[in-house]
Amino acid sequence: MSRLQSVRGMHDVLPDEAQIRRRIEQVWIDAACGFGYEEIRFPLVESTALFQRSIGETTDIVEKEMYTFEDRNGESLSLRPEGTAGCVRAAIQHGLIPNRQQRLWYLGSFFRHERPQKGRLRQFDQFGVETFGMCGPDIDAEILLLGQQGWQRLGLSPRLVLNTLGNPDERAVWRGQLVDYFSKFESQLEDDDRRRLKTNPLRLLDSKSKSIQDLLEEAPRLEDLLGEESRAHFEGLREILDAHGIDYTLNPRLVRGLDYYDFTVFEWVEESLGAQSALGGGGRYDRLVEQLGGRATPAAGFALGLERIRECLEAEATAAVDAYLVALGEGETARMRALAMQLRQEIPGLRIRMNMEGGSMKSQMRRADKSGAQAVLIMGAEELGQQSVILKFLRESEEQQTVLLDNIAAILAEHFAPTG
Ligand code: HAM
Repeated sequence: MSRLQSVRGMHDVLPDEAQIRRRIEQVWIDAACGFGYEEIRFPLVESTALFQRSIGETTDIVEKEMYTFEDRNGESLSLRPEGTAGCVRAAIQHGLIPNRQQRLWYLGSFFRHERPQKGRLRQFDQFGVETFGMCGPDIDAEILLLGQQGWQRLGLSPRLVLNTLGNPDERAVWRGQLVDYFSKFESQLEDDDRRRLKTNPLRLLDSKSKSIQDLLEEAPRLEDLLGEESRAHFEGLREILDAHGIDYTLNPRLVRGLDYYDFTVFEWVEESLGAQSALGGGGRYDRLVEQLGGRATPAAGFALGLERIRECLEAEATAAVDAYLVALGEGETARMRALAMQLRQEIPGLRIRMNMEGGSMKSQMRRADKSGAQAVLIMGAEELGQQSVILKFLRESEEQQTVLLDNIAAILAEHFAPTG
């Protein structure tokens, strides 16, 4: 029988790695909470129509990358390829949006049937924020400042790339100009780009093909078509970023792979990662709430790829255990189990691992050492009789000592007192 393996592009996260990933997640959760954002959770599966109507029928995500299936009732469902659509659906469904400002964050797994490679998975985790009911550039700036704080705490400094896509009218004019311009060169285009020209010409801007890159030099620019409102919004955002000393690069070719954006779009890019260098991205999506059946509501957000962020860090896992309990006999084991429960109760945060399945003193001590614990508590017949334990610090030169059970909690609490 062939060996069962995880699905291609979907990876297990083993304990050491899970610990590091948890630390990264906590940095982002703390950053979002520090700005007064609240958690929201929404399902992994939604009706396919939700993603078609939000991300866009002609985007790569919807055209080629969704895990779509019929459930037993014949309804078309899809695994969520991103979080904005589900978040907006949930916010509309539960009345979170009308007449209210909302600041939300989420964390979870997303699915895209892309060709797996470094930094590109079929199941990946995102941390995201979405805000509703605020139309000014100050909320765009706020989410970027939130991002900045997270990067700082992780010791990373990805490049912030910024652009504005203007409003839908301005974009429609631009789109027409782009189609006219590229149509003149249609015979030079590759099949994929020719298809994009028909279905979603803006996507030509991030085409990798050399001919498009060259043609773009002379292509019509949205910047020349922006009206007063779009300009003022973008300038307002840049002023706040400048006031906070946040560096960014302007890139008029940044269009993003999802159709719901207006005005501000941005990405955080870490070039050292190679081809898949975007650590995260987002922008404003002022039409989406209405498009999905809610009352017209301005909105902005971003999402980060946690696997890619992990790739940028040189983090190591630390021990999972503070104290390991060794017992030599049945009565001793029962007493130690009770002691372990008492210590966990009295010293929240202390991580105690109880030896299982007996074993000689030597083999139990070997397990204690392997666990990474700093302290071992040992109980033999003599200690049980005296209501004491032997306390030994494994990674210090200190002699072992015999401690009365009544006093052990105080000693451990002092030794493992949380620092900072
Ligand atoms: P996105 O740019 O499609 O935006 O994804 C955000 C981030 O998720 C990417 O920059 C990348 O780090 C990570 N990511 C995407 N696909 C993969 C993959 N196949 N493997 C590994 N990581 C991946 C969105 O998803 C929007 N919902 C962001 C947003 C929120 N816009 C407004 N609000």
